[in-house]
Amino acid sequence: MTHFMSINLPKAIGHRGAAAYAPENTLESIATAADQGAKWVELDVKLTRDEVPILFHDDILDRTTNGSGAVAETDYADISSLEAGSWFGESFAGIQIPTLEEALEVIILHDLGLNLEIKPCPGREKETAEAALDVLTQIWDEPENILISSFQHVSRETARDVAQDWNRGLLIGGQSPDEIPDNWRELADYLDVKTMNIGSKILTNDFAMDIIDEGYPLLVYTVNQPDEARRMQQMGVDSIITDAPDIILENILTTH
Ligand code: G3P
Ligand code: MG
Repeated sequence: MTHFMSINLPKAIGHRGAAAYAPENTLESIATAADQGAKWVELDVKLTRDEVPILFHDDILDRTTNGSGAVAETDYADISSLEAGSWFGESFAGIQIPTLEEALEVIILHDLGLNLEIKPCPGREKETAEAALDVLTQIWDEPENILISSFQHVSRETARDVAQDWNRGLLIGGQSPDEIPDNWRELADYLDVKTMNIGSKILTNDFAMDIIDEGYPLLVYTVNQPDEARRMQQMGVDSIITDAPDIILENILTTH
């Protein structure tokens, strides 16, 4: 049986940094979240063709860079020359895609915690988890300020096996509550997770109560509106993952 570290979950976690204010999953987005008072950030990690862990959400480069095509078919040398800010706003022109290692330096500089979401390109579930956790293990030394999650089962199993002592969250999303998996308790047990990280569209009062009854801290994503954030707090949510840390921090109860 794994003995988890305790966890310093904050009330608000900056989603992809502060994705409402800066290009997602960039160093600037991480710094913006810190400037707004977020104590943690959530970031997506995947591999370039030559297996460099980078911060990136989509499987293809098109939406958030001036490049195109699959991340999994592009070497880091080419990825590093792409421009990843103009799509968001001209004032961000010139921003680049960070490696996980570069991101960790900025996270540590700002004294942030991290929910690292392993976001593999299809077919690379195991190697993405292994490479990302290898980098993390070499750099990170605050186990109570890290939480590993993934939607991909093989990545989750790999994280359980290679980062046994680090806190992991069971990430479950979807469009409506009928997508709550019946076997979530078994999954949580099998994957030996510490927290439940749930999409706001599937989180019902009953589901929240069941999670709390089972003793799991509850995180919800992605909540950007004050009234929804307060509703989530009333349901017992511990941590809100948000694109707009400033708005959420101004509008939720931040004391226990
Ligand atoms: O980890 C929470 C959330 O980031 C999961 O969805 O697509 O925004 O990575 P996505
Ligand atoms: Mg994510």
